[in-house]
Amino acid sequence: MPEAKGRILVLNGPNLNLLGTREPTIYGSATLAQLMERAGAAAQRLGYAIDTKQSNDLGTMIDAVHAAASVHVGIVLNAGAFTHYAWGLHDALKSVNLPVVEVHLSNPAARDPWRHESVIASAVVGTIAGFGAESYVLGVEALVRHVESR
Ligand code: DQA
Repeated sequence: MPEAKGRILVLNGPNLNLLGTREPTIYGSATLAQLMERAGAAAQRLGYAIDTKQSNDLGTMIDAVHAAASVHVGIVLNAGAFTHYAWGLHDALKSVNLPVVEVHLSNPAARDPWRHESVIASAVVGTIAGFGAESYVLGVEALVRHVESR
């Protein structure tokens, strides 16, 4: 196989390790590992490789964003509930010169009012939400298009 054109970090936040059993009517029945396999296959079709990371800890997420700057061409980020209040994560995204695509399995805009605000939205290239497992595939595809159009 030819060498990848670049590496993408797919970064997942709190409670996403429980996908598969966590509120399946909202998030579906696929596990995070299965979703990451699909995201990886989508990246590979486009000539890229992915690294995946999940954390329930905000500091670890921020450290992962910092570390990505020297390794990855961009980040596909599902920040989970951190999306709605973690300004430190917003600042981390602004601090590195990396394109980020925000993804969500569900459509937060159609859910509880406190989910309507994303404090990271203004620090990312764009957002994909509401397409279930496909959100990650679309996120990878959108990131690659963005990277290759620059
Ligand atoms: C989520 C949406 C968030 O509101 C929620 O806190 C999550 C998952 C999604 O993928 O739909 O943990 O990011």
